[in-house]
Amino acid sequence: MDTSMVSAYRALNEAQTAIARASTLDEALQEGLKVILKNCKAEGGAIWYANKDDNSLRPYFWVATSDLTSCSHVPGEGAVGRVFKNQQSERYLNFTAANDPMTVADFAGIDITSMICVPFSSKYNNLGCIQFINKEDGGFFTNEEADVCEMMGMLAAMALDENEQIQPEWNPGKVIMRVRGVTREYTNGDVVTKVLKGVNLDVYEGEFLVLLGESGCGKSTLLNIIGGMDHPTAGSFECFGEEFADATQERLTDYRRDNIGFIFQSYNLMPNLNAKQNLELIASLVPNPMSADEALDIVNLGQRKYNYPSQMSGGQQQRVSIARALMKRPRIILADEPTAALDYTTSIEVLDVMERIIAEGTTMIMVTHNEEICRMADRVVRMRGGRMHEVTINRHKAHATDLVW
Ligand SMILES: Nc1ncnc2c1ncn2[C@@H]1O[C@H](COP(=O)(O)OP(=O)(O)O)[C@@H](O)[C@H]1O
Ligand SMILES: [Mg+2]
Repeated sequence: MDTSMVSAYRALNEAQTAIARASTLDEALQEGLKVILKNCKAEGGAIWYANKDDNSLRPYFWVATSDLTSCSHVPGEGAVGRVFKNQQSERYLNFTAANDPMTVADFAGIDITSMICVPFSSKYNNLGCIQFINKEDGGFFTNEEADVCEMMGMLAAMALDENEQIQPEWNPGKVIMRVRGVTREYTNGDVVTKVLKGVNLDVYEGEFLVLLGESGCGKSTLLNIIGGMDHPTAGSFECFGEEFADATQERLTDYRRDNIGFIFQSYNLMPNLNAKQNLELIASLVPNPMSADEALDIVNLGQRKYNYPSQMSGGQQQRVSIARALMKRPRIILADEPTAALDYTTSIEVLDVMERIIAEGTTMIMVTHNEEICRMADRVVRMRGGRMHEVTINRHKAHATDLVW
């Protein structure tokens, strides 16, 4: 056997192991896709599910540096739509725009040189398809690699538990934030550190978005830019239809005051003020604030309003800081590792409060190290080296009280 056959079999074997280990269809597909990407040295790929009502296809999981959340195909349209409709794989080992202009247009901003698209379906239903794009070295996929991708589609279909309920679609609200080509560099003398290298991300009204990634990959930097605490070096950041990339300090201050609530790992409460006084301090700075009593009731601390920070647990202090963020009735809450300093039980108390706030319509963007919190999110964005790397739309949302670590 030549070496490409050997590596193809190895990839398939690894994919099979990953699929067998998975406990849900989504996990099986995602893990299988990642194994194939790694082995074929592909740049990206996506799993597309068909909407049960109108058969429109939307990506629910992808590896790419762009946000594909709003992309969709109809059956028959583009490689994805054709594969879904005909249940025949398509291979473009050497891709040109003339082969499939639709797909190029819909893979927002990504130039495709090579692509493989395979169906996945249960015994009775077409569920969608799986797409692989571009070799990392700019070359083309081989026929052996295309065979592996096809077999991966079949394995995924076999992994499908017929009893698994296909969950309702996520119907995102309108886009309230657009981040395009955002970079952030720090210059110290002659040394330029590129922290963000071109982030493209949309944020949808009312969603719970989790940002994950290794320490130092730029999560806090991104959060600070979208929170109006920092400027990008280049690129565009738009919120509620207004551009803020080059905004003056004054406009950024207004933007933060009118729209954004912040929660950090450290609670930053005034030690010499009780819970209620800590909130009242904020009330004087914002127009139309919530009452301190109401905010404390929302975070279940109505009984603790006269306690000083030193008289409360870490979880209770963090809930006071959430109440403080709620005082200005923000449309968006940005939380940077809010449970990192808390133990399991108090983390769940804090997340339970956040779940309730999101359910009432507040958009939440949370940076965390904790993979388990992803189960609560509408979308999970994994960053790597200053870029978006992987996005999951969560079709099986858990409650805070279901999380275990
Ligand atoms: N003022 C600065 N000057 C130089 N480098 C910085 C500065 N602030 C942050 N960085 C670097 O930017 C990178 C990303 O930081 P950060 O966004 O805080 O990462 P994360 O939150 O993902 O851990 C880190 O390597 C950090 O050292
Ligand atoms: Mg950070």
